[in-house]
Amino acid sequence: RQINSVEMEQRKGRRLVLFPLPLQGHINPMFDLANILHSRGFSITIIHTTFNSPNPSNYPHFTFRIISEDLPENNRCTKDLIAFVSMLNAICGRPFRDCLADLLSDTSEEPIACLISDAILYFTQDVANELKVPRMVLRTGAASSFCVFSSFPLLREKGYLPIQADSQLEEPIVELPPLRVKDLPVIHTNDPEDLYNVVVGMVEQSKASNGMIWNTFEELEGTSLATLHQKLGVPLFPIGPFHKCFAVTSSTTSSSLLTHDQSCISWLDKQDPKSVIYVSFGSLASISETQFLEIAWGLANSNQPFLWVVRQGLVHGSNWVEPLPNGFLETLGGKGHIVKWAPQQQVLAHSSVGAFWTHNGWNSTLESICEGVPMVCMPCFTDQKVNARYVSEVWGIGLQLEKGLERGEIERTIKRLMVDKDGENIRERMLNLKEKSNLCLSESGSSKQALDSLVHHILSLES
Ligand code: UDX
Repeated sequence: RQINSVEMEQRKGRRLVLFPLPLQGHINPMFDLANILHSRGFSITIIHTTFNSPNPSNYPHFTFRIISEDLPENNRCTKDLIAFVSMLNAICGRPFRDCLADLLSDTSEEPIACLISDAILYFTQDVANELKVPRMVLRTGAASSFCVFSSFPLLREKGYLPIQADSQLEEPIVELPPLRVKDLPVIHTNDPEDLYNVVVGMVEQSKASNGMIWNTFEELEGTSLATLHQKLGVPLFPIGPFHKCFAVTSSTTSSSLLTHDQSCISWLDKQDPKSVIYVSFGSLASISETQFLEIAWGLANSNQPFLWVVRQGLVHGSNWVEPLPNGFLETLGGKGHIVKWAPQQQVLAHSSVGAFWTHNGWNSTLESICEGVPMVCMPCFTDQKVNARYVSEVWGIGLQLEKGLERGEIERTIKRLMVDKDGENIRERMLNLKEKSNLCLSESGSSKQALDSLVHHILSLES
């Protein structure tokens, strides 16, 4: 929609302060959101940590403020994600407050209409209250998994959490169909109480906010959004998929912490239409050497060409692909291509890609849906488990590897999804959903309308 001149005039001079969680899967959607809101007439200031700091020169249209969060050296690594997130919430309060107070007192800049923080940085609600700034949150994950997070107290009361024994894993969660205990969004952490506290902090401080922005769309998650609307009692704005609001190359290329290996694209150009399985487990997950080798042989035996992202550090105890047998790729005669980091959105949009073997991080899941690429699901932790269950059981657009990582099962699952008649329904449902993900951004589409409402909502917030 064209911005009319009255609206533009009205909005001129409003600034939004955005604060991303400094992890790849959270930075990408926050910067996409910043671009979307900038295109609607707002000025943008990004507050960021020194850890994983973005490159301001990629965003000359934004201003940047850094806070020195003083993370202890041994907590800079994200091996225990929950400990890392708890630590950020514990130590960022003071520097973040000082930074925001400074921005608020700076009369040379436009007045601040509101703060938009990642939902996981829940400490920011207290700061916003103290400084009397409206706060909205961006939840970068799915609404469906947030429904599960918002049920943590109930899940604990009913004895599903913390998970006590392997024998419990297949049990259905009758309160949250079609989830089973093994689909609950947990992660290994030194102290399970920390996970509970982070989740409750995120949910409670979202309820206390002036509203939530979602990288999802009504046609995909209408039911979960309605449940959340009732439970949380704050306005919800599903305005996704964010990354499709801009040309594929512009957004996540700039916010990527690692360099994209463009050799993927020329390799894909040489493959047959829809023949390639693209394999990537995102920015944080890691696997054992045994699992790595099962994946390698499963891919090789499937006989489909594969493009595989092996991040440095993906395999425990290895720097990169050292555990592969000598000459592994050569013996496959060009059927496989391995890179350290791929331009994922471009890859998924390529006509040669026929399936995505993913860990079901929400960005990857949504990017796959937008390109109509059916998924092999291998969730590792937290919301990925819920996403995978929705992909395979609710939306019916993928197959989950249920029996661990074993080469025979991998080979069968890939063939079933990509080649067999059996997978036809899945492929068809995926194309239907792709269509819906396009339509929601059109002039009268649900996400476009939600974005209009969001702009009005922000303008109505008084600091
Ligand atoms: C993390 C959490 O693990 C996940 O549970 C949560 O939903 C989001 O944050 P992450 O591992 O970063 O997920 O995965 P994902 O959400 O899929 O985001 C990864 C991003 O990196 C995507 O935008 C993807 O396009 C990009 N990417 C990934 C690349 O640019 N190149 C790659 O090779 C792989």
